[in-house]
Amino acid sequence: MSQQAADHPVTPRSRVTSEAVGPPGVLGARNLMRFATNQLAFLRNLADEYGDVVELKMLGRPWFLVNHPDDIEAVMVKHARVMGRDDYAKVLERALGFGLLTSEGELWKRQRRLMSQAFVPKRIQSYGGAMVRVTEAAVKGWRHGQEINLHQEMSRITMEVVADVLFGAGVSATDGETVRGAMEVINEFFANSPEAIAKLAPWVPTPRNFRMRRAIAQIDELIFRIIARRRAGEQRDDLLGTLLSAEDADGARMSDQQLRDEAVTLFLAEHETTALTLAHTLFLLSKHPDVERKLHAELKQTLGDRSPTADDVKALPYTERVIKESMRLFPPAWTTGREALEAVDIGGHHIPKGAQILLSQWVVHRDPRWFPNPEGFDPDRWTPERAKELPRFAYFPFGGGPRVCIGNHFAMMEATLILAVIAERWRLDLLPGQELELEPSVTLRQKGPGLRVRLTTQR
Ligand code: HEM
Repeated sequence: MSQQAADHPVTPRSRVTSEAVGPPGVLGARNLMRFATNQLAFLRNLADEYGDVVELKMLGRPWFLVNHPDDIEAVMVKHARVMGRDDYAKVLERALGFGLLTSEGELWKRQRRLMSQAFVPKRIQSYGGAMVRVTEAAVKGWRHGQEINLHQEMSRITMEVVADVLFGAGVSATDGETVRGAMEVINEFFANSPEAIAKLAPWVPTPRNFRMRRAIAQIDELIFRIIARRRAGEQRDDLLGTLLSAEDADGARMSDQQLRDEAVTLFLAEHETTALTLAHTLFLLSKHPDVERKLHAELKQTLGDRSPTADDVKALPYTERVIKESMRLFPPAWTTGREALEAVDIGGHHIPKGAQILLSQWVVHRDPRWFPNPEGFDPDRWTPERAKELPRFAYFPFGGGPRVCIGNHFAMMEATLILAVIAERWRLDLLPGQELELEPSVTLRQKGPGLRVRLTTQR
């Protein structure tokens, strides 16, 4: 047996191509209804009932839910060349244009190369200072005994981090407020709105469409203004600066429009996912005092009383395990979609050209074949010895293959540093009656206004 096979046990798979099974329905109206009513339970039940590759019709189109890690690897890596963006990318284009998340083909390839220059390890390390500075400034206003809204507070911190990392000190307080307001409108549009689900044209006169148009116009005005200042000679060593000077092999640089699309993409892709990771982690810590104690002990031992830096991250393995386990249970990106651009064979099943393929982190991360006691919060699943027993794609919070999240190391460093700054000084206790109530939209969010917690100082 090869080392790889020994590290990643593979269940025996049929090699004969056959049709996948799934719930009945030719047009799929009932499936769509069930999906819309309780998406998380619907997908989990499909996997339990029909197995590793499930076929279902929704809105008359074939959909395939792929649940086995080897098959997920086949979709994301082996067949990546014939996998396009899923239908939802068209909705996202409305705010993101053709940034890295929504573009395809040659444009995506070129952009991925250019954008990678801002995400090399040395550059990522350099963003650590801003992450710590912004978080320390945010928690400075916290008071012992105060009640805060956990989700809103994490969102405020990560939004300020991304603004600082992208634009440095180039955003005034007023502009910052405008961006925050506009980003909230955009988030809300993608999260819950009938306009997004029905892919309503932007000119249709609904109040939400109007708010969305205004929010995009505000963001555009600010970003184009910042780009113009930079082009006129203002020098800053921030992420935008790296993107402005990034050159491809023939010396070409990004246009203003492309820079705008990438900046908005980074803003949106960074702040909500990382804020949710932190909110879920702090929620879990409040429920698991034994884990919290171990985390505090590691922070105390490694940092003493000083602030963390990017260099400390690798010396905080337990903190990393806590975050990884939180993303297993509550993956901020809870599904990833693809459209088959050609017919393919996945796990011995025929998938026709044009089918939508759904890979769900929510489903696979809770599969008892890979994670015994799947609902349990156990950071020690991520000790190196135990983690290497897992199939490679049993855990994929950041996706995988050529389109793997470009910000994955950035996000892990950011979550670790923010958690370290908070947990070094504060305990967050859930107020009575507060429970996590999930609302899956583009990300796995909290239903309603967010959890309320009480702050207690550690020292
Ligand atoms: C916990 C935080 C995060 C999670 C869970 C997450 C998750 C993901 C996932 C699953 C994908 C792949 C989507 C697909 O294959 O279709 C992705 C792509 C992407 N993410 Fe993240 N992300 C996080 C943080 C970030 C951060 C911090 C940034 C930037 C600073 C970022 C920027 C992007 C971009 C630009 C893409 C598109 C990459 C491409 O298609 O080439 N993400 N993310």
